[in-house]
Amino acid sequence: MSNKIPLAGVIGSPIAHSASPRLHNYWLKKYGIPGFYVPMDIDHSDLKDALKMMPKLGFVGVNVTIPHKETVLALADVVSDRAALIGAANTLIFRQDGKLYADNTDGYGFVENIRQGAPGWDPAAGPAAVLGAGGAARAVIASFVEIGVTEIRLSNRTRARADVLRAEFGPKISVYDWAQAGNMLEGATTVVNTTSLGMAGKSDFRISLDALSPDAVATDIVYNPLRTKFLEEAEAKGCTTVDGLGMLLHQAAPGFERWFGHRPEVDDQTRSVVLGV
Ligand code: ATR
Repeated sequence: MSNKIPLAGVIGSPIAHSASPRLHNYWLKKYGIPGFYVPMDIDHSDLKDALKMMPKLGFVGVNVTIPHKETVLALADVVSDRAALIGAANTLIFRQDGKLYADNTDGYGFVENIRQGAPGWDPAAGPAAVLGAGGAARAVIASFVEIGVTEIRLSNRTRARADVLRAEFGPKISVYDWAQAGNMLEGATTVVNTTSLGMAGKSDFRISLDALSPDAVATDIVYNPLRTKFLEEAEAKGCTTVDGLGMLLHQAAPGFERWFGHRPEVDDQTRSVVLGV
């Protein structure tokens, strides 16, 4: 690295709502590391030029969010196996050899969040049920496959997207019609909502949890609100519930470590800082 102050940031559009600057700048301050993390609203047409310029300005890496997560893969020189598997990157590293390295830590963040929020969680204890088949579901499914979940049940409003994931990730996945989504919860030991249902400003979560066992761990990738209707209903059934905020915090940790040389801790204080409370 040069003697420039190390910079990192997040690229996307829109970007004003991103919690990542608050999170990374808190960690920089907490660990006394000189550096800054900035939000950058970048158009698709400027993406290639921007990525070329950034290392010259002192950037050591950036996070990537909507709408660039898939596009950046084609611009990277080296793509990690997990980013290739998911088909998207959320973390870029400007390496000292001049190469652009693309990684995806979403699945890692997802799993770490459950491990921290539901101590003793055994991913291989039984079937996992996944609601939704969008970009977030890809990362969730890839990580479930990686950590040895033997049966993954998948349901999505648009069934064709779930069928694509089954074709890609193989026979561990069984696809259920959206009208049958409630049925796939029977016997599941992990249940994940990866849809936008229940998110502030989006449609309500209306899937019946009648078949859900109290032994299941339920987690939502939605974190606004923190306590979604899905998690409230699962909690009322006796399930252990894990909200989605921790996924955001944990996915950020490997990038911060690669860029700034220190593994940050994800704790209650980190949650409070990001929530602004
Ligand atoms: P992300 O990258 O966050 O997963 P996405 O790719 O737009 O975003 O996926 C959003 C998910 O929420 C999809 O599974 C979507 O279902 P479709 O594939 O049928 O669009 C799901 N979703 C969004 N609104 C929904 C609704 N009103 N009812 C059911 N599912 C919905």
